[in-house]
Amino acid sequence: MTAIVRVGIIGCGMVAEEYATTLAASPLVRLTTCADADPARADAFGGRHGIPATEPGSVLDPNIIDLAVILTPPHTHHALALEAIAARVPGVWSEKPLALTPGDVAQVVAEADTAGILLGAAPDTTLGPAFVTAHEAVRTGRIGTVLSATATLMSTGLKRWHPSPEPFYAQGAGPLGDMGPYYLAALDELLGPLQVHAATAHTRKVRTIRSGPAAGKHFTAQAPIHIGALLTSADGVPVTLTASFDAAATRTPRIELQGTRGALVLPDPNFHTGDVLFAEYGTFTWEPLPPTSGAPRMTGRGMGVIDLATALTQGTAPACTGARAARVAAVSDAILRAAARPHRALLTPPHQHGTAHAEGTTTIAKESTR
Ligand SMILES: NC(=O)c1ccc[n+]([C@@H]2O[C@H](COP(=O)([O-])OP(=O)(O)OC[C@H]3O[C@@H](n4cnc5c(N)ncnc54)[C@H](O)[C@@H]3O)[C@@H](O)[C@H]2O)c1
Repeated sequence: MTAIVRVGIIGCGMVAEEYATTLAASPLVRLTTCADADPARADAFGGRHGIPATEPGSVLDPNIIDLAVILTPPHTHHALALEAIAARVPGVWSEKPLALTPGDVAQVVAEADTAGILLGAAPDTTLGPAFVTAHEAVRTGRIGTVLSATATLMSTGLKRWHPSPEPFYAQGAGPLGDMGPYYLAALDELLGPLQVHAATAHTRKVRTIRSGPAAGKHFTAQAPIHIGALLTSADGVPVTLTASFDAAATRTPRIELQGTRGALVLPDPNFHTGDVLFAEYGTFTWEPLPPTSGAPRMTGRGMGVIDLATALTQGTAPACTGARAARVAAVSDAILRAAARPHRALLTPPHQHGTAHAEGTTTIAKESTR
């Protein structure tokens, strides 16, 4: 492996710009080439970053790149990761989700292991100063023993700001598949592997694109759009998770941990920065925690690629592993299976007696296109 890790970006869309900025700040990696199914996009991205664009069919070549960075829509990650592994590119990084089903994620992880390829998967927000500070506070007992946690993603969804939002509403994506990895990866690192007990989900199918040239166009969401789930950590800590693309606005903390000595609120796990708030038991006052001494100075999507490049060149263990992505995918899948399982309400309010019905994944009958 050369001292400088040659990186090729596959998928030159919105998120690729942030990666390029982060990678440009690291002396360890060099963005060498890029590719996109749309050659004009690859050329434009290459022009902006002073690199040549390569055909998608020939970019996954260890003679050209040491690390493939897959930044395409969710449904394409599985095939591209397998292609990069088969081509023996030494390092493969994928945006989340690594694949749309736990079986496909497990296949990528297993094939990378067998081939001796270093695999990393987003999110890398757990490498940012906010999460590092929060993790340190939990690890060192600042809030005592963790008693419970809530994780709440309440968003309008990507249709408001993304010009091509359809893939983010496809089966396997939605709030759980697309945004859930930020929350589930953070909880996995804070509390350890999670178990799923119960969930409900519903879908308001017809959505409207709100930005870009397709603004006003309607499309159909395939994934459940609002999910509520009850999880526990291996130690039995109860976690209540809500993931929704059907919220107008919210004041609920994104991730809150309650402990015997205090409470901690983490900022949005979709980002690397933000205030970590601590309230000591009995004070009812929230104070921002100063960044821990180990918190990195640099931030931004692409930190995981630099971490993977460090692992490639220095033999360190990568932080955002395929194994973590596999645990996240298994939890997401279990939540959707729990939600789809027909189950009866244990308590029906008196005025509804006689109308109790099997619950599970329901479609709101009268759909609006909000
Ligand atoms: N947009 C964001 O702010 C953001 C933030 C974090 C993570 N992500 C993740 O990054 C990934 C990409 O999101 P985006 O918003 O940049 O999408 P995008 O639609 O803006 O860009 C995706 C690009 O991939 C190209 N592409 C599609 N299939 C391809 C293929 N098979 N081979 C080569 N190129 C292909 C498309 O032409 C497009 O240029 C997703 O997994 C998303 O979850 C996005």
